Amino acid sequence: MMRGALIVLEGCDRVGKTTQCVKLIEKIAAENGKSSLLKFPERSSLTGQLINDYLSNKLELSDRVVHLLFSANRWETEAQMKLLLKSGTNLIVDRYAFSGVAYSAAKEGMDIEWCRGPDIGLPRPDLVVFLDLDPRTAASRVGYGEERYEHRRFQEVVRENFLKLKEDNWKV
Ligand code: TMP
Repeated sequence: MMRGALIVLEGCDRVGKTTQCVKLIEKIAAENGKSSLLKFPERSSLTGQLINDYLSNKLELSDRVVHLLFSANRWETEAQMKLLLKSGTNLIVDRYAFSGVAYSAAKEGMDIEWCRGPDIGLPRPDLVVFLDLDPRTAASRVGYGEERYEHRRFQEVVRENFLKLKEDNWKV
């Protein structure tokens, strides 16, 4: 059986990743393909609940601790991802380790190389689609500002970080 493809959509907040992920799932289904949607952070697990409280400003955590939690949140799904890929299911993933690095490294004193460490060894995407949008346009979208990282200047640094992480398997 052919292994499924691992396709990741990345980008800053409110660029439309979730909408495009759903469209991709529908498109694959229309062509009789099998696909499954994953989203990180996965907020329902134990790590996900802590992350959710942190993002909604109900909980304070140190930058390194929250970085490791985001990574652990991905590792919790590793076995399931491998099984699905092996069974021929295409995985469409709404944010992955690139978000982990781009956001954490936008913080004072957080180094890109240190941030990469915890995610080393996770399944490598076949394709990363980076949705690029002017941070001013993103900031004008409904709901912007509700969560911890939704500030214009911060998002600009995150965007610059994403572009530093770009590899051959990326499409912008
Ligand atoms: P979401 O809005 O796509 O659910 O993402 C939640 C926020 O968490 C978003 O501002 C990006 C941020 N984030 C990180 O800081 N590190 C990560 O590893 C991930 C996946 C998201």
